[in-house]
Amino acid sequence: MAKIIGCVTTSHVPAIARAIARGEQEDPYWKEWFDGFKPVHRWLEQAKPDVAVIVYNDHGLNFFLDKLPTFAIGAAAEYQSADEGWNIPTVLPFKGDPELSWHLINSVVTDGFDITMCQEMVVDHALCNPMALLWPGGKPWPVRIVPVEINTVQFPLPSAARCYQLGEALGRAIASYPQDLRVLLMGTGGLSHQLDGERAGFINKEFDKKFMASLTADPAWVTRYSTIELVERTGSQGIELLLWLTARAALGSGAREITANYHIPISNTAAGMMLLEPAA
Ligand code: DHB
Ligand code: FE
Repeated sequence: MAKIIGCVTTSHVPAIARAIARGEQEDPYWKEWFDGFKPVHRWLEQAKPDVAVIVYNDHGLNFFLDKLPTFAIGAAAEYQSADEGWNIPTVLPFKGDPELSWHLINSVVTDGFDITMCQEMVVDHALCNPMALLWPGGKPWPVRIVPVEINTVQFPLPSAARCYQLGEALGRAIASYPQDLRVLLMGTGGLSHQLDGERAGFINKEFDKKFMASLTADPAWVTRYSTIELVERTGSQGIELLLWLTARAALGSGAREITANYHIPISNTAAGMMLLEPAA
């Protein structure tokens, strides 16, 4: 049977791709952030995932405001990376796992989630940057991927409670897949940030820290807030924490922290990273 081996959540700021392209990982601005991934690299060498199920948000590349699903799952054999306007390099294409994708789609639809199924999908910085942080060096990706896309761009957004339930449904779906696969969960985006409007530059360290702590001890904690309350507390793009929450919910009730990093700022963002394992 498939087995969930861990969950990595990380910010996906486009500037990360530029720093990688320029080789700036040792620069004082970047060092603390990139160094935070060293324990993750060591863990991945041991954990050897076959597939990554990646909860992320499209930023106007594959979906635009004219047609925007709330939840979408990719079922392609290959996903090309593309840049929706940040002037960042693309990365090597990602191999999909259509059989696992269709199993997840069937399972979550049976569980009551009316998701959009995508047999073609291009993926933006929100998927590519976290992959490049986990597997640096520009070599062919050592895992296949299944993208799980959630609208955090245009209201109405799904609630934290609904995202948590989708995560739980994904966890059940993965656990019921008959192949012996080692599955890594990923959730991207966040933490607190707001890119535009009167509160541009808004960051809420206290809330971010509470949220990160909740993911080990009390993962449903943030579901008490509405999406509007979460935008108030974390910024209009900080709501990307829904993607962390969904991935975390798929891990199951108990989790232990292997490593974490929190760094202000990267670009306009309070950048966070966590690696969790399921509780033994
Ligand atoms: C930034 C952060 C994001 O999450 C994003 O999608 C784009 C830009 C930023 O902080 O620059
Ligand atoms: Fe983003």
